[in-house]
Amino acid sequence: MNYDIKDVSLSKRGKLRIEWASDNMPVLALIRERFSKEKPLAGVKTACCLHVTTETAVLMLTLKAGGADIVLCASNPLSTQDDVAASLVRDYGIPVFAIKGEDNKLYYEHLKAALDIDPDITMDDGADLVSTIHKEKKHIPLGGTEETTTGVIRLRAMELQGKLLHPIIAVNDAQTKYLFDNRYGTGQSTIDGIIRATNKLIAGSNFVVCGYGWCGRGCAMRAKGLGANVIIIEVDPFKALEAVMDGFLVMPIAQAAKIGDIFVTVTGDINVIRGEHFKVMKDKAIVCNSGHFNVEIDIPALQKMSKKRRIIRDFVEEFVTSDGRRLYVLGDGRLINLAAAEGHPAQVMDMSFANQALSAEYMKKNYKKLEKKVYKVPEDIDRRIAELKLASMGIKIDRLTAEQKKYLASWEMGT
Ligand code: NAI
Repeated sequence: MNYDIKDVSLSKRGKLRIEWASDNMPVLALIRERFSKEKPLAGVKTACCLHVTTETAVLMLTLKAGGADIVLCASNPLSTQDDVAASLVRDYGIPVFAIKGEDNKLYYEHLKAALDIDPDITMDDGADLVSTIHKEKKHIPLGGTEETTTGVIRLRAMELQGKLLHPIIAVNDAQTKYLFDNRYGTGQSTIDGIIRATNKLIAGSNFVVCGYGWCGRGCAMRAKGLGANVIIIEVDPFKALEAVMDGFLVMPIAQAAKIGDIFVTVTGDINVIRGEHFKVMKDKAIVCNSGHFNVEIDIPALQKMSKKRRIIRDFVEEFVTSDGRRLYVLGDGRLINLAAAEGHPAQVMDMSFANQALSAEYMKKNYKKLEKKVYKVPEDIDRRIAELKLASMGIKIDRLTAEQKKYLASWEMGT
């Protein structure tokens, strides 16, 4: 078996951590149980480009139980958990190509190694795998799935330009994904990453969140809960209004740059924090990103205006500007929740990855009907996952009565 990981001897710790995650993923456990009987993915070669975490390992075991031949590479150079990669290789015989801290060259070599299996299905997080496939004009017989907002945006752009070569299911856009993973997952794990990296007190700090989408809401909500003064930066008037009425201060980044203690970008956009903003930041301001790519903070601009640069703690880089201020960038501007912490908790990935597993099964069954488009996760799959998750939490909800169904489908009855 070919693989490229840091150190296979880390497997013991990885195996225990995978077990811990697995115990917190009851919906995926049900799917795995059914998959191991029905083998809906028998012989389907599946190339997965996902963050190599304990939760991803549980998804890999689920796909394997369903009969898929899988290979895994990282969807970010800094998000790999090396012990998990080791356990997948040694304990479960799953080929992995991922090393935490790999450079861009090795990152793309690993993507290409995953594509060597000539996949039938791809599973992407950020669309790097699919864009590589498109550059190399590889044929994907069944199609692919996409995990995150940024990936879906890229794939929709490809579809619009008529460049998409195979169907994609946008897992990100399932309600059981973005409402929970992006909001509660990113919210908690981003704060976790900042705290693990810096050990700073959040209470009383001016905490600036750039982007009030699903991830931004989560970060703002959790920072508020810890006692921060939360400031929101937006470009969308609806989101900005929502932030105002959720009780946050809203202002342009140029203004917030002068007063922020901690800055987090979660926009999926480019150069949100730039040189002109670094120029006015306070001494000891902390800047990090939780959006998919490391392009939201203009680190080269900060480098240009700095006279010194050093790593002061794990995942904390100090830049001393020419006027003597110290500014700190966390995790090279890469997803801080995965660089310095462990990514989203398993309970939330349970739903995201249930969508991945069931979307792969759906694609295998229905690929002949699918066009070269970006599709939503079918509504019945999304709903079923919500129902299973509630059941796993021991929570029951009401059902519409026959009378209520009729009433809600009618227009005749008024006051
Ligand atoms: P979203 O589309 O719901 O929100 C993005 C928000 O950023 C929008 O409200 C938009 O108006 C705003 N925005 C865009 N440009 C801006 C600018 N220059 N200044 C201020 N605001 C701006 O997207 P979502 O789901 O919140 O995802 C955001 C990013 O986080 C994406 O890159 C996504 O892939 C990534 N992501 C990261 C995760 C993680 O584990 N860290 C998990 C899930 C998503």
